[in-house]
Amino acid sequence: MEKNLEQISSLCKRRGIIFPSSEIYGGINGFWDYGPLGSELKRNIRDAWWHFMVQWRNDVVGLDATIIMHPRIWEASGHAAGFADPMVDCKDCKKRFRADQLCEEQGKKLIQTGKTFQLPEGTVCTACGSKNLTEPRSFNLMFKTYVGPVEDDSAVAYLRPETAQAIFAQFTNIFSTARKQVPFGVAQSGKSFRNEINPRNYTFRSREFEQMELEFFIRPDEAVELICGKVATLADNPDLNGEPQENWGWEVWHRYWVEQRLAWYKLAGLPQEDLHLYWQTKDELAHYARACVDIEYAFPFGVQELEGIAARSDFDLSQHQKFSGKSMQVQDDRLRLVCAEMSQEAKDAFKAKVVADWTSRGKDAAAAEQFVEDLFLGRYVPHVIEPSAGTDRLALALICNAYDEEKLVDGKGKEDIRTVLHFAPALAPIKVAVLPLVKNKPELREKAWKLFTDLRRDWKCAWDETGAIGRRYRRQDEVGTPFCVTVDFDTLENDTVTVRLRDSMEQIRLPIAELPAYIRKAITL
Ligand code: GAP
Repeated sequence: MEKNLEQISSLCKRRGIIFPSSEIYGGINGFWDYGPLGSELKRNIRDAWWHFMVQWRNDVVGLDATIIMHPRIWEASGHAAGFADPMVDCKDCKKRFRADQLCEEQGKKLIQTGKTFQLPEGTVCTACGSKNLTEPRSFNLMFKTYVGPVEDDSAVAYLRPETAQAIFAQFTNIFSTARKQVPFGVAQSGKSFRNEINPRNYTFRSREFEQMELEFFIRPDEAVELICGKVATLADNPDLNGEPQENWGWEVWHRYWVEQRLAWYKLAGLPQEDLHLYWQTKDELAHYARACVDIEYAFPFGVQELEGIAARSDFDLSQHQKFSGKSMQVQDDRLRLVCAEMSQEAKDAFKAKVVADWTSRGKDAAAAEQFVEDLFLGRYVPHVIEPSAGTDRLALALICNAYDEEKLVDGKGKEDIRTVLHFAPALAPIKVAVLPLVKNKPELREKAWKLFTDLRRDWKCAWDETGAIGRRYRRQDEVGTPFCVTVDFDTLENDTVTVRLRDSMEQIRLPIAELPAYIRKAITL
């Protein structure tokens, strides 16, 4: 079925999944609210991510940091100077565009020389057709605010444009308290803000959104080599689905996280064939990044990024070390003990090799020597692999994927359309709807209410006693409830209920005593 974003957003509005923010005042572009069911969906997404990335592992811990942080953080990270998009205005109709998107829409590519941009010949305003466009100029995407009552330069602060930097800024506190050794990771989910020039495609590009980010800290390859003798690369065919190994270098760790994230998207219910990997080319990579792959999803408006997984070397921690003057090195006892056993000759040979390698890549020989001396003492600034996902983008992908309009024909040949959201049961906003067959029979209603109050202790449940039972099933189908449990006259006799399944519309009869175990099995991630 061809999926249509308008139909999907209209269902989301009608059923309390997503509303435009501040709608009674005409809305505000790039901001969205999640209603009663959308807030459940988003919480389920966050929880499922947290289970997979933190709770089920022994090498990842969590963080919940503030949105406003010291402004120096954004100087160190490069956001203050470089987190900008090129913007152009139409001088005739006054519309504003992101220059790269305006070019792309016309099958052209924005010309970039260093930090300056130029529109290619013949670019026009897509709103009015005018050629009277301004030159592209950089626009910093960070939202600015003031901390405290005085609005002067010393009080300037920013709403974070990514959750990641707090993890780097808190790295030493976490390392000294979490009792973890490298390799280990820190995960955080929460709000981020970007003053996008052109928010679009429903919630896809918003100005306020949530991210779920992991910074996974690993040893520099040189430390792995000292400990293991040789660094495993992808050419060694490592088992990426097994337990991580000590000899893995950054390349294997990066690929491992790509596989982990793909496995998670599969659990979340996104079909493999709708997910694409886009490997950034050398030209596209940020200067500090060694590799970056985008996991993309086939949205109704095109194949677009869901998550980026970057190998960011030691760039972030080193920048914070430089800007804060605080050491970001870890003490790695395993490395120190291995180096303590090495002969001076072996150490000299290793140092010469690293210096040659670094200088061949244009790096400073003295810095390479210091790096190796520190390694011999078991000290280094960890490198990092960063899987960074958008919660709202994933919510949108899951809604688009789940949306279906099924043509049904009843026994009399009458056609009907069933709108259904086929969410993975673990992520569905409501897990179970309890439906008393009739509402005017007190014992039956009481029995159903008791079942509802028992089940809702464990799961988000719905109670619906109005309308014909078929209509009630359809209402639940529309919001993706995987199970409808009907309490009827037989229930009063033998304590069994009808469980009606969303996807197959099949109905099965189960003893009430078996219901919780049945549901638990079906909704476990
Ligand atoms: N720390 C790395 C980082 O922030 P990013 O590619 O800029 O990388 C990561 O963002 C993810 O955050 C994206 O893949 C996307 O899912 C989400 N995201 C970024 N900008 C967004 C926006 N304006 N609206 C919704 N989600 C966004």
